[in-house]
Amino acid sequence: MAETERYKQAAAQAAVDRIQSGMVIGLGTGSTARYLIEEIGQRLRERRLGGVTGVPTSEATAALAVQLAIPLTGVGQSPIAFAFDGADEITPGLALTKGGGGALLREKIVAAAALRFVVIADESKLVDRLGATHDIPVEVATFGVRGTMEHLRRFGNPTLRLDTGEPYVTDNGNYIVDLQVEPIEHPARFNQLLSSIPGVLETGIFVGIADEALVAGPGGVRSLFPR
Ligand code: A5P
Repeated sequence: MAETERYKQAAAQAAVDRIQSGMVIGLGTGSTARYLIEEIGQRLRERRLGGVTGVPTSEATAALAVQLAIPLTGVGQSPIAFAFDGADEITPGLALTKGGGGALLREKIVAAAALRFVVIADESKLVDRLGATHDIPVEVATFGVRGTMEHLRRFGNPTLRLDTGEPYVTDNGNYIVDLQVEPIEHPARFNQLLSSIPGVLETGIFVGIADEALVAGPGGVRSLFPR
């Protein structure tokens, strides 16, 4: 297994160590979250955990959880003890870029609903400022997408995300615009500005939502808190 994959897996395992039997857990989307879901499935199978229920952040995550016999529920049914999810970028203040996998809208809803939202990642995701290494994914309505992209152009260079030549469609039936930006000085303000554009349904900027990040690298898994 490549080094980066081992780090993602280590972060995911550290997250699963936090889970106690009977908890409701927000299940993220992406390659790091996949390790988390596989580990939960394994511990349930081996009866090292019992009665854990997941709240999936995408159809892909729901399908994987079902395959691994992890029972699922929705937001608002019971308190979500933890939501665990990957990220594309993480700043020292734990502002995040998310949505590389296109699941940002449900990810933000589940993260915001959880009592604690903990990011799991390998340390290549650490940045000084959002936008430094990754475009900002923005979920937009299909209606009037070209107009929405024109508004987004004030903030960077927008590209409609494609999937085998056709617009990529999210689980919610919307499009994703990837916005190439200069590194962002004030992510909360930037997020507000993007969110005020008609047609923008959600942004991949997560500010003030993460309580902790479990970040793995050659030195092991570090716990980071917002500062
Ligand atoms: C999914 O929409 C994303 O927000 C992912 O959580 C993010 O892209 C991180 O993915 P990896 O764990 O695959 O790097």
